[in-house]
Amino acid sequence: MSEPEFRPGLADVPVAESAISFIDGKRARLEYRGIAVETLARESCFEETAWLLLQGDLPTQRQLAKFDDHLRHRRRIKYKLNDLIKCLPETGHPMDALQASVAAMGMFYPSRDVTNQQSNWDSVVRLVAKMPTVVAAFARLRHGDEAIPPRDDLDHAANFYYMLFEREPSPAIRKVLDACLILHAEHTMNASTFSGRVTGSTLANPYTVVSSAIGTLTGPLHGGANEEVLDMLEEIGSIDHVKPWLEHAVANKKKIMGFGHRVYKVKDPRATVLQELAENVFAETGRPKQYELAMELERVAAGILGPKGIYPNVDYYSGIVYKALGIPRDLFTPVFAIARVAGWLSHWLEQLKHNRIFRPEQIYVGKHDVAYVPLERRP
Ligand code: ACO
Repeated sequence: MSEPEFRPGLADVPVAESAISFIDGKRARLEYRGIAVETLARESCFEETAWLLLQGDLPTQRQLAKFDDHLRHRRRIKYKLNDLIKCLPETGHPMDALQASVAAMGMFYPSRDVTNQQSNWDSVVRLVAKMPTVVAAFARLRHGDEAIPPRDDLDHAANFYYMLFEREPSPAIRKVLDACLILHAEHTMNASTFSGRVTGSTLANPYTVVSSAIGTLTGPLHGGANEEVLDMLEEIGSIDHVKPWLEHAVANKKKIMGFGHRVYKVKDPRATVLQELAENVFAETGRPKQYELAMELERVAAGILGPKGIYPNVDYYSGIVYKALGIPRDLFTPVFAIARVAGWLSHWLEQLKHNRIFRPEQIYVGKHDVAYVPLERRP
């Protein structure tokens, strides 16, 4: 039998059959359970979108009301978890704090029996409900401020904003934050989802599954890109530097952060709808300088990187929006995580129905039949 072909990065290799989301990278189309993501970002809310992903269909009015109520009443975290978060180094990255806290959360809610569907669903609701509380708690506790308890009279996005800033968001800010959660909730077989699936395939508990996925999301080639976009825009500095900076970067084979995607060969549809909703926020806050700079870079890059199918992805603009909302830079990826948990858990539930442990092949390129030389005979 011939050796199987090695595809670095598993590019184009299917690793699952999934009915959760779909991307057409040439037509700029992303669907959750068949519904265009732009429609969801404009018309839906995160709670409804999470149900859609997790359960497969839009909820009925009663289902949504019940799910929303369950989420609202599971936002609080154990005081011991709060104490654990207090003990984490304040200089540490919030993604590491989130990963550690989610792994620890699993110790409070034993959920080892993943054949128990009720327990699985309880874990899903808990993880979706509590992750924003963990992120907001670390964001405040690291500065010596008290964590702000969640409010159950606010929806998911507004409550998260409230726990960060101790004030309610304006309608435009609530809408754009909610849309960001929707736009980041799911994205087919990306690295963190695959990571969660690999961990889930061992029948590990859902908290461990999500903490694996959080770890995978931290890297700058995945969720960490939105932080680096702001660094890059700072480095460029002003509109007249854009063209020479880009030409120099491309000539030196430097990656332009927030550009490019394994699947999209046109502009990411999420970036387009995010820009549209962000304009309503900028009408209140003023258009940030970085946004003007980013649009100019996108314009110039269309001529240079466009022919290679490299266009802005969602994280090109999300960091600029979060910054305009006052969200600290190192919380950008945790905001991504509190959205993507809905996707990770949808894949986990889907996979459990026909689970088989992941055990891929490798192509061995090492030595054979090497003699063992006793230590005393070695130099
Ligand atoms: N800037 C400049 N050139 C790029 C970029 C970019 N952002 N992305 C890809 N290219 C070029 C590569 O240099 C390479 O060129 P070559 O064929 O001449 O060597 C070619 O396009 C293919 O690039 P790969 O890195 O092999 O593409 P891959 O599909 O493996 O990577 C990735 C996709 C990781 C997203 C890549 O485009 C990248 O690093 N982008 C910047 C980081 C980023 O924005 N990540 C966020 C991803 S979206 C998300 O997680 C929500």
